[in-house]
Amino acid sequence: MNRQTETSEKKLTRRDVLKMAGIGGIGLLVGAGGMKTFFPQPTQAEPSASAAASKGDYIPFYGKNQAGIITPMQDFISMAAFNLTTSSLADVRKLFQSWTLASARMTAGQPVDDEIENPHLPPVDTGESIGLAPMKLTITFGLGASFFDDRFGLKSKKPAPLVDMPRFNSDEINPDWSEGDIVVQVCADDPQVAFHAMRNLARIARGKAVLHWMQEGFQRTASADPSGSTPRNLLGFKDGTNNPIASEPKLADEIVWANSAESPSWMTGGTYMAMRRIRMRIEVWDRSSLEDQEATFGRHRHSGAPIGKSGEFDDLELGRKDSTGKPLIAPNSHVALAHMDGKVKILRRSYSYSNGMDVKTGQINAGLLFICFNRDPRKQFIPMQQKLASADRLNEYITHVGSGLYACLPGAREGGYIGDTLF
Ligand code: HEM
Repeated sequence: MNRQTETSEKKLTRRDVLKMAGIGGIGLLVGAGGMKTFFPQPTQAEPSASAAASKGDYIPFYGKNQAGIITPMQDFISMAAFNLTTSSLADVRKLFQSWTLASARMTAGQPVDDEIENPHLPPVDTGESIGLAPMKLTITFGLGASFFDDRFGLKSKKPAPLVDMPRFNSDEINPDWSEGDIVVQVCADDPQVAFHAMRNLARIARGKAVLHWMQEGFQRTASADPSGSTPRNLLGFKDGTNNPIASEPKLADEIVWANSAESPSWMTGGTYMAMRRIRMRIEVWDRSSLEDQEATFGRHRHSGAPIGKSGEFDDLELGRKDSTGKPLIAPNSHVALAHMDGKVKILRRSYSYSNGMDVKTGQINAGLLFICFNRDPRKQFIPMQQKLASADRLNEYITHVGSGLYACLPGAREGGYIGDTLF
């Protein structure tokens, strides 16, 4: 033992050692069978002191369903997929136990764990959210199809709706931005709060999982639009007008939450997420006429109303024709196709992204981080995307470059952990 280590070790208290274990995974202290941790578990009623003034900013982590699915959209997202580097199910269990504890704390505006006051150790929390309110932070976990391969003995538990995402017409999917064993969606009303959460989850995963892809996104902030009107995407159109009302339990059951008819019982309270990173050809779009832009979507740009109507929330009424007998909303427009005759619905929760400049072309590298939730992607997202990929007028201006399908786990009850119904 060299001198330096010796001195450091002398200065470590028993509590410090426990905390050190917490850095690499609180789960080191957690038996496979339960949550007997040495740390006080945060409860839902404990937002941090800094956050006390803004309790409305706090979205409880524990619950029947994970937050971040039917939760009204926050302003920012940090999303990442991880690949597991361990092949031990016990390690995976520990990882989810550690992530659960850390997530419950961070969503309450607390650091990832209690700080060790020992200058010889790295701080437990990375610190950039010290003093910040929870800012409606939500953290949502999902599992990709690859999670159910031979590594963890869970093959037989793979839900039938978690199929491999098919290849769609004109896809230009980059595997470096796609799939992954685990997806983590972090949303918050502050970009630093979101970044902090993702960074600390990646830190906790060390030795068990590594980042596979990561993408940040945004929409207009609530302070820029206090009226809370429908946000616009980077093509300038209101995006989200005809999205199901997620707060209506009947609709959510019908569209979002896994159902025992298709999904195993461990998925009760879970859902499936489809992710598509969609690059926009912004420069080409900017050169097209307003008329062409509106015909592409089938809606007016300013009001968001269906073509020929004046109210944003007016019915599409796809059958309407102009005086020459031509459909007012072109049958190959985005809304005409995505409407699916009103028979197939998904819950969209997408964010714009900008990754700066594409150095190869000198163009802006931006688009839509498309995210949607559905009860069974085989009957909802996939047929819808098949239809859009084959005929949508919008395809002239977009390219799908990343892709993923994930089973979002049910919520955890206090004392439990995300994934406990499966592991
Ligand atoms: C960059 C890509 C995309 C853009 C810019 C975009 C934009 C829009 C816009 C402006 C609307 C009309 C307003 C609204 O109701 O929200 C809309 C509607 C819709 N979009 Fe997209 N979208 C994109 C990709 C997708 C994808 C990949 C899907 C699903 C596979 C999808 C599904 C829908 C649905 C279901 C509607 C509502 C249709 C209805 O009125 O019933 N969109 N989208």
